[in-house]
Amino acid sequence: MLKSFWFWLVILLIAIQPFSLNVQAKLNSNPNEELQAPTEVLNLLKRSCYDCHSSEVKAPWYYNVAPVSWYTQRNVKQAREIINFSKWNTYDKEKQLKVLEKIPKAIVIRMPKKAYLYLHEEVTLTAEDKKLLSVWAKKLREELN
Ligand code: HEC
Repeated sequence: MLKSFWFWLVILLIAIQPFSLNVQAKLNSNPNEELQAPTEVLNLLKRSCYDCHSSEVKAPWYYNVAPVSWYTQRNVKQAREIINFSKWNTYDKEKQLKVLEKIPKAIVIRMPKKAYLYLHEEVTLTAEDKKLLSVWAKKLREELN
């Protein structure tokens, strides 16, 4: 019984592979559209946020394997709809302000996502990182206003 369960699971996993999605399939990244920010801020965003909120998703191979790819693809798509730091300069001022306003709260409560941190513990934001990002977001908001 158990044996046949694993057998069918493997068959199922193989059967769904043609429906895998390539998470890394790039949206074209244009350097002129990227967010400009102080190096420390940019490094932090790249380390902890770019895997979802950018056009430069660095995906390990298993991200592209169904069913994981269905989940990651959806997640990344949703994340980019809200913020894509690689497209920052294409946003109007209103949208930039809206995003900047949300960042400080989001990083305290739930960003990066828990499920993601489970696999990438090293990108957890420290209290210091959060402060740096919040101060940057606040300052940029004031400059834009
Ligand atoms: C594993 C993917 C992932 C990572 C990494 C990630 N996010 Fe997100 N983020 C999402 C998704 C998906 C959403 C939209 C759904 C939601 O709000 O849960 C989102 C939403 C947001 C929002 C909007 C929240 C709101 O209240 O509307 C902000 C702001 C945000 N992310 C900032 C960040 C920042 C800053 C980082 C890095 C420190 C980060 N995210 C890292 C996936 C991610």
